Amino acid sequence: MSHPSFQSAAALTAFGSYVPDRILTNEDLSRIVDTNHEWIVQRTGIVERRISAEDEYCSDLCFAAVRNMLERYPVQLQDVDFVLVATTTPDTFFPSMAARVQAEFGIASCGAVDIQAACAGFVAALQIANGLILTGVHRKILVIGTETLSKITDYTDRTTCILFGDGSGAALVERADKGAFIGSYVSTSGGEGHQLYRSSLSSSINGKEILANGKIVQNGREVYKWAVSQVPRGINALLERYSLTVEDIDWFVPHSANMRIIESVCEKTGIPIERTLSSIEHYGNTSAASIPLAIDLALKEGRMSEGDTVLLYGFGGGLTESALLLRWTL
Ligand code: UT7
Repeated sequence: MSHPSFQSAAALTAFGSYVPDRILTNEDLSRIVDTNHEWIVQRTGIVERRISAEDEYCSDLCFAAVRNMLERYPVQLQDVDFVLVATTTPDTFFPSMAARVQAEFGIASCGAVDIQAACAGFVAALQIANGLILTGVHRKILVIGTETLSKITDYTDRTTCILFGDGSGAALVERADKGAFIGSYVSTSGGEGHQLYRSSLSSSINGKEILANGKIVQNGREVYKWAVSQVPRGINALLERYSLTVEDIDWFVPHSANMRIIESVCEKTGIPIERTLSSIEHYGNTSAASIPLAIDLALKEGRMSEGDTVLLYGFGGGLTESALLLRWTL
């Protein structure tokens, strides 16, 4: 299955993940803010989330996910020629997390770039990796999606602190004779950027005053409305572009923002909920890490098989969307 307007010379060859040990339950949160387990489960589907230790940072989570990948797949990193890390919570803005990964694993010579597309970041990084491999210059790219959102969450704001958690996923993307990426879709609603942000410098977006407190700030209702109208529209546009139907999709992996958003998207597009993978219940919303974490949960449960057609759909801060259709090759 391929389309003349989309080219790919890349395939996934390894996958790994990591979540911190510490669990923050809904019960725990109800002792911090005015909330309760029932409200959180009913409105979001989240039961618990993982929280990094005080001295555990984004770079540590990146390293741990890559180590997990190396333990599970017979791959080596010496000839990796590009590292792409998608994150909104780097422990240092420079050096980049990608450069830290290069040093940690002693990768001889490679490009190293962090990308920032919030919850769409992991899928955006896969799209970029496919493009870099298509140039013919790059052959083996390490793509990581990692967040330590707990470090930028305002635990006095009950509308946001119940949502976010920490985690990390890693994938190896390699040049392949038969490219496994089938199609992609992107869209940006920058005019709505002030609905979801984190700022520690500027105090305005789109001419609107914002809080520059270094924490995540979100107008949940507006982001919710945007997601449940934009994501189905994007899925339909992508399927139409590549002359496919929902029956062609074996697994739908949306960003795990909120279970209700996922259910609404499934209802509007006709994608069966049983064909949907999420990491929301036990990890919460982990932004750039949520899609690789959902995939890895399914891999460990033996749910995905080689040859499956998988639709990844990241959406969030920006507001931005990145979707990728691929043939599963692991
Ligand atoms: O990953 C990036 C993209 N982000 C998203 O996709 C997030 C999108 N938004 C959401 O997931 C939801 O809007 C939330 C989970 C953030 C909120 O759920 P909601 O169903 O939209 O709730 P709401 O904001 O409409 O609030 C309903 C009520 C309000 O009370 P009143 O005004 O009806 O009396 C809130 O004050 O629920 C109240 N509320 C809470 N109650 C208990 C808000 N937060 C809480 C809470 N516990 N934690």
